[in-house]
Amino acid sequence: MTQQAVAELIGKQKKGFALDREFYHDEEIFRRDIERIYMKAWLYAGHQSEIPGKGDYFLYSVAGEEVIILRGDDDQVHTLLNVCRHRGSRVCLEAKGSARRLSCPYHGWTYALDGSLIAAAYMKEDFDKSGYGLKKIHHTVFEGMIFINFAEEPSSFSVVEHDLGPYLRPYRLDKAKVARRQSYPVKSNWKLAVENYKECYHCGPAHPEYSKAHSLALPQERWQAEMDALVARMPSCGLKNSMMNHSYATGREFGTDRAYEHYPLLRGHVTGSRDGKPVAPLMGDITGYDGGAHDFKIGPVLYALAYCDLVVLYRFTPTTVDTCDCDITWLVNESAVEGKDYKVDELTWLWDVTTIADKTIIENNQKGVNSRFFEPGPFSTFEAATGRFVDWYLKTIQ
Ligand code: FES
Ligand SMILES: [Fe+2]
Repeated sequence: MTQQAVAELIGKQKKGFALDREFYHDEEIFRRDIERIYMKAWLYAGHQSEIPGKGDYFLYSVAGEEVIILRGDDDQVHTLLNVCRHRGSRVCLEAKGSARRLSCPYHGWTYALDGSLIAAAYMKEDFDKSGYGLKKIHHTVFEGMIFINFAEEPSSFSVVEHDLGPYLRPYRLDKAKVARRQSYPVKSNWKLAVENYKECYHCGPAHPEYSKAHSLALPQERWQAEMDALVARMPSCGLKNSMMNHSYATGREFGTDRAYEHYPLLRGHVTGSRDGKPVAPLMGDITGYDGGAHDFKIGPVLYALAYCDLVVLYRFTPTTVDTCDCDITWLVNESAVEGKDYKVDELTWLWDVTTIADKTIIENNQKGVNSRFFEPGPFSTFEAATGRFVDWYLKTIQ
């Protein structure tokens, strides 16, 4: 598809309707998605507790671009591109591990943990190693969460710290640890996965487990009544009972979306668990259960569910035009002991079962969208947030 054809296609999308099929399987549009969104936005890479020791690392791949996130000899986080400066081989091949040095498996060029080249055999005498360190990309650590940005000059992350920091502080995510991290590969374009996440029209039919506890599956009037009741009874437990929304940031703030919202849980649930009862010790400085849950968002593709005893981070990453990964990270208080204070199966039950159901409906969606007979239909009143995502997306890739 030519640039002009893409521009014409964008121009003919109807507001309040799903997107045409090309947006979910055309390579040129996918290339734009990567260039204009994923190569510019702040992306969640992982949590600092995943690399506690010097030399610990893990990899994060976005549509073929791969980053090594590691803890250096200086105890700081480093984010290095996994592309050897000799002839371009991947340097690290394991998804995670620990190393004293990074040694390329092809011809043995060896890098220190800060990416500088320290050994390269049989090079000419005038070869200057200092010009051949692994390339670095920008990163920042916010409340223990490591964010990366592929852009040469990324937008400033400070607006996220300023606007969202006070809301997140009580959870003390910098004093949390990963209880489990799980990747769910989905055979769909990444946008179908995000569009599905952004609406709860499907929650009734697809997610009985979620709908039992979460008020976002309710129509607006019933949700408001539940919310009013929650606010009236909400005990002081250290959490903010207010909302903040700077989603779909554009211009100089592109890729720094930040939002936080509060909503009631139903039927006596105090957390997102099988029976509604706590599944882990309270997070951070939180002093009790408020009967609600919180959502937050950082950047365009990281969504989180914050309960009083666990925080679930939900990330969408494209792998190819018609495949993506949904990665879930479950965080608990760092002092919690597995087996004693929490059981991983119970902690992860709700969002595991919900994500497996989502994977099926999203993949079925992709199959239908691939049909030459697919014609986009209108969004319901329950899909307003999906509509806002689509509007932002179309503006972004123009
Ligand atoms: S490509 Fe890495 S040492 Fe040759
Ligand atoms: Fe869902």
